[in-house]
Amino acid sequence: MSSGLKIVQKAADVRSAVLEARLQGKSIGFVPTIGALHEGHESLVRSARECTGYVVSSIFVNPKQFGPKEDYTRYPRDQTADAAALERLGCDLLFAPGERDLYTSSDRTRISVHGLDEFLCGSTRPGHFQGVVLVVAKLFNIVQPDEAYFGQKDAQQAVIIQRLTADLDFPVRIVIEPTVREPEGLAMSSRNEHLSTGERKRAVALYEALSEAKRVIEAGERKPAAVKQSMLNRMTRAGFDIDYAELVDGSNLRPVKNIDGLILIAVAGWMGGTRLIDNIAVRVAGTGVEEIVLEFPEWSRYEWKR
Ligand code: PAJ
Repeated sequence: MSSGLKIVQKAADVRSAVLEARLQGKSIGFVPTIGALHEGHESLVRSARECTGYVVSSIFVNPKQFGPKEDYTRYPRDQTADAAALERLGCDLLFAPGERDLYTSSDRTRISVHGLDEFLCGSTRPGHFQGVVLVVAKLFNIVQPDEAYFGQKDAQQAVIIQRLTADLDFPVRIVIEPTVREPEGLAMSSRNEHLSTGERKRAVALYEALSEAKRVIEAGERKPAAVKQSMLNRMTRAGFDIDYAELVDGSNLRPVKNIDGLILIAVAGWMGGTRLIDNIAVRVAGTGVEEIVLEFPEWSRYEWKR
């Protein structure tokens, strides 16, 4: 039986609520977000609810992960609707700090996960992942969860956070959940709200490009350039201004020369004024091609060290 959603703004209040839950023997699940919750976020909260005893979510539109020309000010904000959704899903605690609750003007610490933040979104969004990693490290220290839930929708982010967690010995298990899509295939995103009706229809080309890439690989293609070209064609025809269409190794995010093993197929592009991303992960072994939820090798997990 849920006792309702508690909303707090201060780290100290998170710590005392979490301590109380721990004293009751509950494990802590955590779902960090920047709000404007949709079914993608909701699936993470549902999994946390199923697997852990006390569910914490955070909403913080983190200024440090938005570039100076990005959509920080127009990012949708509706805490009342978000809190209602979290309550309905049985979330126990919402941490909704203001900017000054997390950052001070004397902050000097930066964390970067070298080598993983340079490709894909890292190349066109300089500083973005540093901002993400800093806030996630701070949130992990405040909430101290046993498990934290992330969506494959932001696959590069998930890989970077997994690396951060293992490298800095956060005793947190990172759980990746599949991308939740609209019925026609468009990945759910708070940014979809900015699309006109026509743009929204054309934006489905991102998922179609990924599905076509998978079909081309299933048909036997093992050279990334050919697969990439099929994706670029599909995206260009739909009117995307392309940021990237890549096939990278799912564990180190480096572009592959041959399609073999765990491959992340990732695309990004602008539809009008809105930047959209999507990806699928496939495991390729010989002639076998299987779509999977992104997974981390055993050795990269924190539990391995315990
Ligand atoms: P945000 O964009 O709000 O996303 C919060 C979580 O929801 C992320 O783990 C993201 O991958 C997941 N998510 C978004 N859309 C999804 C979809 N369609 N299906 C499944 N999961 C989806 O990602 C962030 O916030 C921030 O960078 C954050 C990690 C909170 C740091 O500020």
